[in-house]
Amino acid sequence: MGAGIVGIGKYVPERVVTNADLEKVMDTSDEWIRTRTGIEERRIADDDTNTSDLAYRAALEAIKNANISPEEIDLILVATVTPDRPFPSVSCMLQERLGATKAAAMDISAACAGFMYGLVTAKQFIEGGAYKYILVVGVEKLSKVTNWEDRNTAVLFGDGAGAAIVGPVSEGRGILSFDLGADGTGGKHLYQDEYIIMNGREVFKFAVRQMGESSLRALEKSGLTKEDIDFLFPHQANIRIMESARQRLDVPEEKMSKTVNKYGNTSAASIPISIVDELEAGKIKDDDIIVMVGFGGGLTWGAIVMRWGR
Ligand code: UT7
Repeated sequence: MGAGIVGIGKYVPERVVTNADLEKVMDTSDEWIRTRTGIEERRIADDDTNTSDLAYRAALEAIKNANISPEEIDLILVATVTPDRPFPSVSCMLQERLGATKAAAMDISAACAGFMYGLVTAKQFIEGGAYKYILVVGVEKLSKVTNWEDRNTAVLFGDGAGAAIVGPVSEGRGILSFDLGADGTGGKHLYQDEYIIMNGREVFKFAVRQMGESSLRALEKSGLTKEDIDFLFPHQANIRIMESARQRLDVPEEKMSKTVNKYGNTSAASIPISIVDELEAGKIKDDDIIVMVGFGGGLTWGAIVMRWGR
């Protein structure tokens, strides 16, 4: 039996911050942000809302969508680089709030590739027979580690959460193959001290190379080719990076998820948020081959090939 997504949910804060809003507080322009990144607006959480609050709301939706009860969850994995505090983990905070009394809990730190690392970890526990239902959350409140005086990074990020219940699915469905990787030598290009510090051009080059290559490696492992892709979910960092991956994989424009315009870069949350939006728009149907691919600080990357459906 395979492991796949049996329920999914998202939460984004209500407050919309447009490029025009940013123009008023820093030396930037709507034109620059749109053409260089594809971002038009992002959601920013208020001071009273922390990462665990965003995660909780997305998790509730995923649990409802999976039609299970919190007591059935065996493990909670939260991918985040912006936990409420170093410990207890966001996963443990969720365990309490959800009443997931049976669940073990830990956070995963793999930056924007975190949701990929979480799904792959969940797959191992389910296919190994140890656990049945695992809650995997990708969540960030990046606004709290953004330097609002650094226009190189401040215009890029947004807050949000996406959550999935990973569980057993019918034969032939679920996660078919994956490719995970890391290159610690590139850690210096994207990191956080007090705030996020980034060498945009270096990360850009890395991302363009890895998004295509990692996807192709993952496809090869399941005996599929780029022609088999029904829908592509690239990490929503920058439309130019996403476009280069799309072209490398010969995916038509209408078969790639584009939500970066609405939410900016929400790091570990960007892929599950995009899946929810595309499902709601009726773009994904059972048995579609979807490829998810992320990259981020570490540097890390990860691609997953999945046949959609329970
Ligand atoms: O989840 C992973 C996280 N990170 C990423 O995915 C980031 C990957 N990198 C990128 O997306 C792009 O490198 C950026 C969008 C960050 C920057 O785009 P770029 O085309 O690489 O621009 P650049 O850094 O080469 O900067 C071009 C110019 C510079 O001015 P000068 O030196 O040419 O006069 C910047 O100072 O644009 C300037 N600039 C801005 N201008 C207006 C940088 N940020 C801004 C801004 N508004 N917000």
